[in-house]
Amino acid sequence: METTSRLARKVEFGDFQTPIGLARRVADRVADLGFAPASIVEPSCGVGNLLFAAADRFPEFQRAVGIEVQPRYLETLGERRSGRADAERITLTLANFFAHDWSVALAALPGPLLVIGNPPWVTNAQLSAGGSGNLPEKSNFQRHAGMDAITGKSNFDISEAMLLRLSRLLASRDAVLAMLCKTNVARKVLVHIWQAGTPIRDAALHRIDSAAEFGAAVDACLFTCRFGATVTDQTARVFPSLGATAPSGRIGFRDGRLLANADMHDRWGHLEGDEVYRWRSGIKHDCADVCELEGTPGAWRTAGGAAVDVEPDYIYPMLKASDLGNGRVHAPRRWMIVTQRSVGEDTSKIAAAAPRTWAYLQANAARFERRASVIYRNRPPFSMFGIGEYSFALWKVGIAGLYKKIDFKVIGPHAGKAVVLDDTGYFVPCRSQEEAELVADLLNSDAAREFYSAFAFWDAKRPITVELLRRLDLRRVAAALGKSAALEQVLTAGAIYADCNVADSLWAK
Ligand SMILES: C[S@@+](CC[C@H](N)C(=O)[O-])C[C@H]1O[C@@H](n2cnc3c(N)ncnc32)[C@H](O)[C@@H]1O
Repeated sequence: METTSRLARKVEFGDFQTPIGLARRVADRVADLGFAPASIVEPSCGVGNLLFAAADRFPEFQRAVGIEVQPRYLETLGERRSGRADAERITLTLANFFAHDWSVALAALPGPLLVIGNPPWVTNAQLSAGGSGNLPEKSNFQRHAGMDAITGKSNFDISEAMLLRLSRLLASRDAVLAMLCKTNVARKVLVHIWQAGTPIRDAALHRIDSAAEFGAAVDACLFTCRFGATVTDQTARVFPSLGATAPSGRIGFRDGRLLANADMHDRWGHLEGDEVYRWRSGIKHDCADVCELEGTPGAWRTAGGAAVDVEPDYIYPMLKASDLGNGRVHAPRRWMIVTQRSVGEDTSKIAAAAPRTWAYLQANAARFERRASVIYRNRPPFSMFGIGEYSFALWKVGIAGLYKKIDFKVIGPHAGKAVVLDDTGYFVPCRSQEEAELVADLLNSDAAREFYSAFAFWDAKRPITVELLRRLDLRRVAAALGKSAALEQVLTAGAIYADCNVADSLWAK
């Protein structure tokens, strides 16, 4: 078992040494590029498996340089080097990557240049929490502005900082960068390279089985790209494994955006345009234990089983993302107390309109007040967000944000009331069943699905976002499918959503 201090050091230095077999296969992939380096650099070389695998694979190299911050690894490296015939061509240096003068170091090396490595797998937030000094100087290296610089977006991988610095220095060299890193880091580095207009070619991501290789379940890859190109290729091939000979697709960069599937974008990019239907997200209340109920009309209860005696006026059947994702949209099993019909609406009128509902809300007022998000401050008590007339449209077409597939569902009324979504779902409101069915048909067409798949990264936490949904121009989809007349007909029929409370009178009060 590892001791605590050894483990802490492993975390601080993102220390997962590359197994020798993997190191050799990485060197083979570099050789596949038809590239033979005069110089090899390993910027965080550990015990040197990648450094020596590259030296073995390209024995004609003139200079090889290994940099490592942990002295104990340098000792091991020294011993390994002393047994090698090419020892005098290999320089080993004890240095911190972030303190090293890379422009001088790289300028001294003859090209072509191979920079190969497996930089630490750790984020600055993990390091800051541990009080580590293993961080780039406070340069806000991604140039985030304002809030982004102090919130989530400034949480970056140490390897990202390293790869960005190296890629800037390699921009004008005949060089190959070959790095094992998180897939997400490889994509971000590519975006920076493409944004900077740096000409590169042969960019590729070969996925690796990091659980098998490193015992860490991280989405990781070998990221390779070649600098010193005359024309730039703003796509990168993605291979399902290190051994795969054929790519599974290409990511790319167009109009300042990263594409998950460049081929789908080439085919369907022209469907991007106006948002014909406005996409909405479901209702946000951050109070599921009070607002979300189970049971049947008149016999509602909390998820914990406590009976809830409220009038039906403010209660709506609801669907969660899991219901949408699993296709359980026809008979919602949950209900939501919705306190407002528009954002900021006065809630005190509930007291007269539905006294038992008001009493239930009052009894749980402390729970509402504990809601952490600032959006609820200085708002009427029991406020919600993502509320408007659209929330109460009897017909909707919805999709789950958290699910990893493009599958739009028609959502119709239940028990005579509009079905509402929670804030993990997105929808467009429709005025009739016919309209909802047409919209769902268009959105579920191959053209629309392939359009969305051009942008959706399925390994993201929330692959489907409202920004993504808004990009598709439904009129263009309809035109591509020969359904323009049908769409125009539903768009011009009826201006308002059917009222949601048609069945209230059917419910016992
Ligand atoms: C994921 S391990 C990989 C080691 C080696 N590249 C390999 O592939 O086997 C990361 C290495 O980076 C080293 N490292 C961490 N922070 C560093 C820094 N600031 N400068 C140089 N090396 C660093 C660690 O000590 C560790 O050996």
